[in-house]
Amino acid sequence: MAAKHKDRLLDMVKSTTDIGVNLFFVRQPYPNGLGDAVRLAKSFVADEPFVVMLGDDLMSDKVPLTKQLINEYEDTHSSILAVKRVPHEEVSAYGVIDPSDEVKPGLFNVSRFVEKPAVEDAPSDLAIIGRYLLTPEIFGILDNLKPGKGGEVQLTDAIDKLNETQRVFAHEFTGDRYDVGNKFGFVQTTIEYGLTHPEVKDKLRPYLEELGKRLLADDKGAKAPKK
Ligand code: G1P
Repeated sequence: MAAKHKDRLLDMVKSTTDIGVNLFFVRQPYPNGLGDAVRLAKSFVADEPFVVMLGDDLMSDKVPLTKQLINEYEDTHSSILAVKRVPHEEVSAYGVIDPSDEVKPGLFNVSRFVEKPAVEDAPSDLAIIGRYLLTPEIFGILDNLKPGKGGEVQLTDAIDKLNETQRVFAHEFTGDRYDVGNKFGFVQTTIEYGLTHPEVKDKLRPYLEELGKRLLADDKGAKAPKK
């Protein structure tokens, strides 16, 4: 890139490599649940609090959600996970908390963490979204945890157990969440991020406006009575 004077691209690559971040991978070679996947990362974490970020949940807010969790941890020295209110009929797609009291606005003590409850059994509409800050004691629990919902080792179940011996807080996230783990969410997220992205927004907006007009015209055409 340097030889070809592609300076802007070169700067972009450097910005990701010059900051001294090392990436290490461990692969879960079989599907056995989020709890099992986290357990496999034990040797990276050693005996320190750590963050779990689910890559198919994108969050957008002025202060990044993970930083919000870290700020709370600095006050409480307790595990904490992010929750967001979802429409009641959608709760069975998530881990759900049973909040016992609101310690301060948006920070909950929790009496139960339930993985993917039936809609009629859900203790609240506060769904666990993909950001967790956990103390290392979670690993001892995961090591001995029996499979839960779907026959898989569930992180939510381990957190529910951890909460018996150490407080685990829930922090309500009020920013935007994008779920790219389903096909519609993936397309929607791509469009919404594109609308603010400096490289494509100027083309994308007029394109979508034009597309919207075409779709409306098609609808009207379809509804017009045949002569
Ligand atoms: C996982 C967790 C669930 C959580 C969800 C957030 O489920 O098991 O508790 O609410 O992520 O996206 P998954 O979406 O992997 O089925």
